[in-house]
Amino acid sequence: MSSLARMPWVIKYRPKRVEEVVNQEQAKRVFLPWLRQWLGGKPPEKKAALFYGPAGVGKTSLVEAAAHEYRLELIEMNASDFRRREDIDRIAKIAATQSSLFGRKKIILLDEVDGISGTADRGGLDAILELINNTRHPIVMTANDPWDQKLRPLRDASLMVAFNRLNERDIVTALKRICEAERIECEHDALKYIAQRSEGDLRSAINDLQSVAEGYGRVTLDLVRSLVVSRDRQYSPWEMLRNLFMSKYAWQAKRAITHTDLDYETILQWINENIPVQYSDPSDIWRAYEALARADIMLARIKRTMSWDLLSYVFDLAGPGVALSRKKSKFKWAKYQFPQKILMLARTKETREIRNAIAEAVGKRVLVSKRKFLSDVLPFMKIIFEERPDYAARIAIAYNLTDNMIKYLAGPRYQAVKEHMNMLLLRMEKPSTVSASATTRESKRKEAGRGVRSRSKRSGRGRQTTLF
Ligand SMILES: Nc1ncnc2c1ncn2[C@@H]1O[C@H](COP(=O)(O)OP(=O)(O)OP(=O)(O)O)[C@@H](O)[C@H]1O
Ligand SMILES: [Mg+2]
Repeated sequence: MSSLARMPWVIKYRPKRVEEVVNQEQAKRVFLPWLRQWLGGKPPEKKAALFYGPAGVGKTSLVEAAAHEYRLELIEMNASDFRRREDIDRIAKIAATQSSLFGRKKIILLDEVDGISGTADRGGLDAILELINNTRHPIVMTANDPWDQKLRPLRDASLMVAFNRLNERDIVTALKRICEAERIECEHDALKYIAQRSEGDLRSAINDLQSVAEGYGRVTLDLVRSLVVSRDRQYSPWEMLRNLFMSKYAWQAKRAITHTDLDYETILQWINENIPVQYSDPSDIWRAYEALARADIMLARIKRTMSWDLLSYVFDLAGPGVALSRKKSKFKWAKYQFPQKILMLARTKETREIRNAIAEAVGKRVLVSKRKFLSDVLPFMKIIFEERPDYAARIAIAYNLTDNMIKYLAGPRYQAVKEHMNMLLLRMEKPSTVSASATTRESKRKEAGRGVRSRSKRSGRGRQTTLF
């Protein structure tokens, strides 16, 4: 397959002219006169424009199309890079320098400025403001949500350009055009189905279209129904593996393993168990295990150092790393196996109930839905329990977790957590009870666990232990 054929369609079919950016007439009416003013040599009062609106509706595309159409040199930077001094300086220098008489005019794109709204990025925001003040070229920024309080100075300094969510018809039209260009047979109802699922995000619609078209050579409603998952749909482990091993592109593989409720370790275990089920060629198997092992090491390091920003590397290794290891094995319909390790745990049959009970006990207090708790909070809780028995002990006491829950969460570190709990509870008791035997300590713990909050409020004396 040529490299062009493998190019993601969202890139291949990016609008080249302003006119090709569909259904953003309002945005164009605001943006184009402002841009022409710049190009006419009279910088407008607001030297920057802020494009805002939902994902995948043409914000970045409009800047690129305008640059192309007006023959401007596009200086592009993801705004989250604004932490690095050398990047800021590089852009600032370009912005402050007038183009030479015969040189091409420039337009500066700072993509996704809402990514830098954190307090840690204060310096980045100031740098952007300074850039806007000194620029001699139009600056366009993009954001999904520009209403964050911290972005206010940027809003004040910018021409605000709103982008609309695209409707189903726009999306179907755009998809149809791609089907024709690719000479792929696409059923109208299939395109409608993709459009509905995309919730106005043309980028994701195009990605869905490509994954079905390239896997099957045509796009029918039946295929689309079984393959296209809605935004909030999560894959079962079997679906995850099927999607992972069928992936032709890195993004498909990554999507397969990031759209599931399973915790990170469980994902790796499922893949681990099924690499030899899916791949037959020894060199493929070797490469896949190599990638998976590196994912595993990375995950361990992340847990140890709590550097969660590295998590996406784990997904890169375990997803694309494994999927793209297949060079010689033919794709076959495999019957995936349940990981032995999980099977052993699940045999106690309690796991599910315990998870639900924890969600009940804790989820309510942290104000998230049960589903969200199980997918987003529980995995982290488990890691805390396995890695930091001292924190875990506080959590266990605060939420009054039962022994079974602690066993589930802490696994082999159960004893360590219990020891920390006992120590904490002792400290919370009055000094005279410190010498209590282990058994009375245990019953005190239960009692204390139940009443921690009310008691510390009521007594107002003695040593208070802060739980968080
Ligand atoms: N209005 C549109 N007209 C034509 N193509 C579009 C439009 N919106 C999106 N696309 C297609 O979807 C892809 C993604 O669009 P784009 O990058 O412009 O989205 P965005 O609004 O910048 O999203 P994000 O906020 O996620 O950055 C483009 O490559 C293009 O192919
Ligand atoms: Mg964009």
